Amino acid sequence: MEITDWLVTATGECQPRPAAKAWDLIRDRYYFHRFLTDITDLLDQAPHELEEWNFLPQIRMRVRQLFTNSYWLKTQQPDPTSKAGVSIFTLYDEIGYPLTVQNVLSMPGVVSPIHNHGTWGVTVIIKGQEKHTFWRSAGSQHQPFKIEPAAERVFGPGEIVSFMPETIHQVTTVGETPTLTFQLYGDTQPQARFEFQPEQATAKAF
Ligand SMILES: [Fe+2]
Repeated sequence: MEITDWLVTATGECQPRPAAKAWDLIRDRYYFHRFLTDITDLLDQAPHELEEWNFLPQIRMRVRQLFTNSYWLKTQQPDPTSKAGVSIFTLYDEIGYPLTVQNVLSMPGVVSPIHNHGTWGVTVIIKGQEKHTFWRSAGSQHQPFKIEPAAERVFGPGEIVSFMPETIHQVTTVGETPTLTFQLYGDTQPQARFEFQPEQATAKAF
């Protein structure tokens, strides 16, 4: 069976995870607002924000359910106007809202900084391809932000990549066509979100 769901650990290991069968996820009228309600209901069960990542299996399942049932999701995309080659289309937001929910369009050849998110995340590739390079900490008392490469993998349409708050990655848009992804993140802890410079073993707020 083709593996479609992945978890990237805090040490940059890309582990296959069981995916629900599409047949079992088909549901009439699985609107985006139902999905958001399912996710916030799930997260309400976490005793603390920092333990929300424990619910990644259930969150991945709901993301796959949304991807399976929502044509709307696949048609929401920003105009590719950004000079940097990455355009973000926010799907929902309000003051104090704990989630980031967005579709992101990225042009071929775009390379992101090496970064973590300071929260859990789940991405599904809607169209196109992207290469993720995963890094792990090799830090010591003197060089706390030293990192080393851990793994690399190209993901394509229908694949789900989930990661933990400490997961470090760099994303390159590969292929000839723009890549559209749906991205869901928890509440970012700004003091835990970094952009890394491996040559200098340094990091700055991201
Ligand atoms: Fe990222």
